[in-house]
Amino acid sequence: MEKVRYAVVGLRHGREHVEAIMNDPRAELVMCCDLEEERFRSLELPSGVDFTTDMQQIAIRADLDAVVISLPTHLHTDSSVMMLSSGKHVLCEKPLAPTLEEGLRIKEAVEKSGKIFQLGYEVRYSPFHQKILEICRNGSIGTVTNVWWNMFCNVQNRGWRLDRKKRGGKIFDCGCHYYNLLENWAGAPAKRICAFGNLLGKTGPTADQIPESATIMFEYENGVRGVFTFSEKCPNLQNSTCGVAGTGGKIEADPYYPDECGSMDIHANGGQFQYHIDIKNTGPLKALHLGFREQHTAFMDSILHGKEVYVDVNDGLRVIRILDAIDESLTTGQVVTL
Ligand SMILES: NC(=O)c1ccc[n+]([C@@H]2O[C@H](COP(=O)([O-])OP(=O)(O)OC[C@H]3O[C@@H](n4cnc5c(N)ncnc54)[C@H](O)[C@@H]3O)[C@@H](O)[C@H]2O)c1
Repeated sequence: MEKVRYAVVGLRHGREHVEAIMNDPRAELVMCCDLEEERFRSLELPSGVDFTTDMQQIAIRADLDAVVISLPTHLHTDSSVMMLSSGKHVLCEKPLAPTLEEGLRIKEAVEKSGKIFQLGYEVRYSPFHQKILEICRNGSIGTVTNVWWNMFCNVQNRGWRLDRKKRGGKIFDCGCHYYNLLENWAGAPAKRICAFGNLLGKTGPTADQIPESATIMFEYENGVRGVFTFSEKCPNLQNSTCGVAGTGGKIEADPYYPDECGSMDIHANGGQFQYHIDIKNTGPLKALHLGFREQHTAFMDSILHGKEVYVDVNDGLRVIRILDAIDESLTTGQVVTL
């Protein structure tokens, strides 16, 4: 079987993509791109993998099949459009783009090219999310009424992550994963959003400040309610808990405990039991990011076997609308209807 020939653009978080490709017998890493050559030199790669600082050199190569774009979010649009237009399948990091207008440009390029475009909401591919989704859908906790995610971490934003317009800050850059998951568990798109957020010690952010702590409330089209609460200034290693309540029970879950694979207490049918995700999270592909390996397998399956893309450009557009609504609500103090 011919291998899928890859390039990776952006080698900071992108080095995890390099590892995933290197460990997939169906894939071959052919080229890497970063502005800093040192990032490439620090990778342990077999000889023969090419390097460039100019991503156009990837676009013009006819012998490449697929490109992973792991650039800062404000650089996703031009790079995705360039790669799709030159006939490459694209796996692009999340969120899709900093604005809806840019996201729509990517969608147009996807449709014109007919190529696979998969978005990096990798948690959607994780056994953890899939188990919760199965319980939400099979009726064992009744009809879903509430969904929630709590994220407490301790980070120092740098570079583009200090810029709210570039969708920096955990509330956008990381929260986007969880707004996408909560919508899935709720089973309907978000309809109304209300966000409270501030720098610690302040009463509210200006349009360019990134909140250090926030609570966001969601109402979904089917009447389910959701809450996302976070602080990026809380020293806590196990940084998330989440859950779903229904008319017949509830799930209380920890996505990273144990072994960064996830576990949950399920209260249903008059009983309570624990469920641990049983996957081996060891070896070179041990990733802190739930679903990282599975998203790569899915991308390959779409390229090689025409499997339907599970997280596509439309997921990206919906999350951009949510991020915009959060931003507007933070600034105006109003409830925003999507
Ligand atoms: N899925 C996840 O869990 C996850 C985790 C981390 C980051 N991300 C996403 O991945 C993307 C990249 O994040 P990051 O943390 O690596 O960002 P970063 O700013 O730390 O690193 C970006 C890399 O891209 C390179 N770069 C910048 N401009 C370039 C250009 N024009 N050409 C070539 N290389 C260029 C930089 O030199 C750097 O090595 C973002 O969209 C981010 O949201 C996703």
